[in-house]
Amino acid sequence: MVSYKDLGLVNTRDMFKKAMAGHYAIPAYNFNNMEQLQAIIMACVETKSPVILQVSKGARDYANINLLRNMARGATEYAAELGCAIPITLHLDHGDSFETAKACIDNGFSSVMIDGSHFPYEENIALTKKVVEYAHQYDVTVEGELGVLAGIEDEVSSAVTHYTKPEEVEDFAKRTGVDSLAISIGTSHGAYKFTAAQCTRNAEGILVPPPLRFDILEEIEKRIPGFPIVLHGSSSVPQEYVKMINQYGGKLADSVGIPEEQLRKAAASAVCKINVDSDGRLAMTAMIRKVLAEKPAEFDPRKYLGPAREELKKMYMHKNIDVLGSAGHALD
Ligand code: G3H
Ligand code: 13P
Ligand code: ZN
Repeated sequence: MVSYKDLGLVNTRDMFKKAMAGHYAIPAYNFNNMEQLQAIIMACVETKSPVILQVSKGARDYANINLLRNMARGATEYAAELGCAIPITLHLDHGDSFETAKACIDNGFSSVMIDGSHFPYEENIALTKKVVEYAHQYDVTVEGELGVLAGIEDEVSSAVTHYTKPEEVEDFAKRTGVDSLAISIGTSHGAYKFTAAQCTRNAEGILVPPPLRFDILEEIEKRIPGFPIVLHGSSSVPQEYVKMINQYGGKLADSVGIPEEQLRKAAASAVCKINVDSDGRLAMTAMIRKVLAEKPAEFDPRKYLGPAREELKKMYMHKNIDVLGSAGHALD
């Protein structure tokens, strides 16, 4: 058993309390490799933001849980060395079973998500409650989910959105004991969030996605006031990166993400955690493609991963400062 407390990590309880009071959201960035992690830590230290490092099942399979945990421990030391010991959480993203959640808790994670949203309601409650009972023994916080996002969640995909039913949230929170709740109000996983048919076009002919269902969010807030809410699928799919990827030999179809001003509005509400993965993939791929296209003789990975890391850092800083509002809150 490895305790996250010995690794310099924190759970999400305090973070969410402060985010709720301060009307901002904590960034939850997925990572699979060293350059992504370095970019996240550099950006969060420079903007003085707390951060949640997210590890998916795919990330565990790709990088190994022991390596990832030790990278997170290293990140706490790296942040201090860079000049600000920001609060860092190591979080399991989309945990799919009690065994997976337990394995992460036993391996030094400070927070886990148990995603029972694909199960019938009572099964979701039973599974989530079982994880909460285990996690809380070790002061590990737990995120549950009600409602299903469209798109691909780890290996589970859904073609359509099932919005969270506000009439279920109070019962779910009470009976499971979860610390936070992921909801479905129109965000969606992956780089292809909306089809052109679901969007309208503005005066300049640019695709505009359907707005998030703030009415559902408000109804949820009324039923569980002060309870931390989580938004998955919150990448904005920056068009500059889509263009750059295609300009340098890529082949991405037209796609749009969640507009930044809608995320800013959500962050000022009970939404305390905003998940971003796809935007990091786009930024990294765009810069790697650019460098390799412009310098075809280059074969030192540091020469293309370095600029990709710089681009990622810039993007995360922008999110912390201009979108989530978490900048400056590391030492609250
Ligand atoms: O919600 C899913 C995350 O974007 C993780 O994706 O399973 O490909 O690592 P992944
Ligand atoms: P995006 O695909 O929009 O980045 O969402 C990531 C996510 O929700 C991870 O859990
Ligand atoms: Zn997700």
